[in-house]
Amino acid sequence: MTYKMIIDTDCGIDDAITIISAIKYGIDIVGITTVSGNVYVDQVTDNVLRILNFMGRNDIKVFKGAHKPLISEKTTPAKIHGENGIGDVELEKSPKSEEELPAPYAIYKLARENPGIVLLTLGPLTNIAMAFNLYPDLKNYVSKIVSMGGAVNFGNVTRFAEFNFFYDPEAAEFVLRLGIPILLVPWDPVVATPIFEEELKETFKGSVGKLILQMEKTVMDFVEKVRGVRGVFLPDPMALATFLDPTIIKSKINTSMHMELNHGSLMRGASIIGEGHGTEIVMEVDKGKFLNFFKNIF
Ligand code: BDR
Ligand code: CA
Repeated sequence: MTYKMIIDTDCGIDDAITIISAIKYGIDIVGITTVSGNVYVDQVTDNVLRILNFMGRNDIKVFKGAHKPLISEKTTPAKIHGENGIGDVELEKSPKSEEELPAPYAIYKLARENPGIVLLTLGPLTNIAMAFNLYPDLKNYVSKIVSMGGAVNFGNVTRFAEFNFFYDPEAAEFVLRLGIPILLVPWDPVVATPIFEEELKETFKGSVGKLILQMEKTVMDFVEKVRGVRGVFLPDPMALATFLDPTIIKSKINTSMHMELNHGSLMRGASIIGEGHGTEIVMEVDKGKFLNFFKNIF
């Protein structure tokens, strides 16, 4: 079964891998929207256009979104994705530019044209919160939000906060309260699933695989300095893969997640597990099945 999807991204190396994998899987990507996060939104947009051009998919429309989080000041993330966000790999410039429509409106328009659409979110949730705030009936057209973000027991920015939700916690809280079914991949299953260089090489084959290895080199050089091993994490690809092949999920919880929003708090941007339900949170994955998902499409 294939799906119609809108992908919202702060493209990033693992975002790029996710976009490439969605294309290879045969997802009907009806549009890609961009948001500031790993790098500034102009750079994110350029990265997405270049990736699509490399993949021969200039037919996929790109819509630029939010420049900064709703309330938080823009933070500069660690330069683990390189200066340009895609491991400083210089892909050919795309002959195409982004569309004129801003991302939040594009999300609404595309969802109305494709009812039942899935929103795959790979970055801070600024565009998504804006879209649902501007157009409350958007809820009627979106069947599911699949999202990488949050931290149940382990964060990557702080002990309790994960980057995407930390960057724009108000937007995350807004989206978590929508009442739309959410499949969430927080940092927990990601950090428990390091992928080593040899595994990356065995998984991502061909010319596209070569590009992925080239982009991840920056990360592996960094990780080697800090940890003494060459490996990466694949947060955004895990959101795509667990949605498309739920047998990859070893354990999950059905609960609610909220964000700590207090500006004076050291915990601002941390995720808090509530008592409700409706948010399916992936806690553990089967690494072999996770890698097989990509081996089968590369
Ligand atoms: C998230 O932050 C970004 O660096 C990655 O692309 C991923 O979306 C992980 O915390
Ligand atoms: Ca991302």
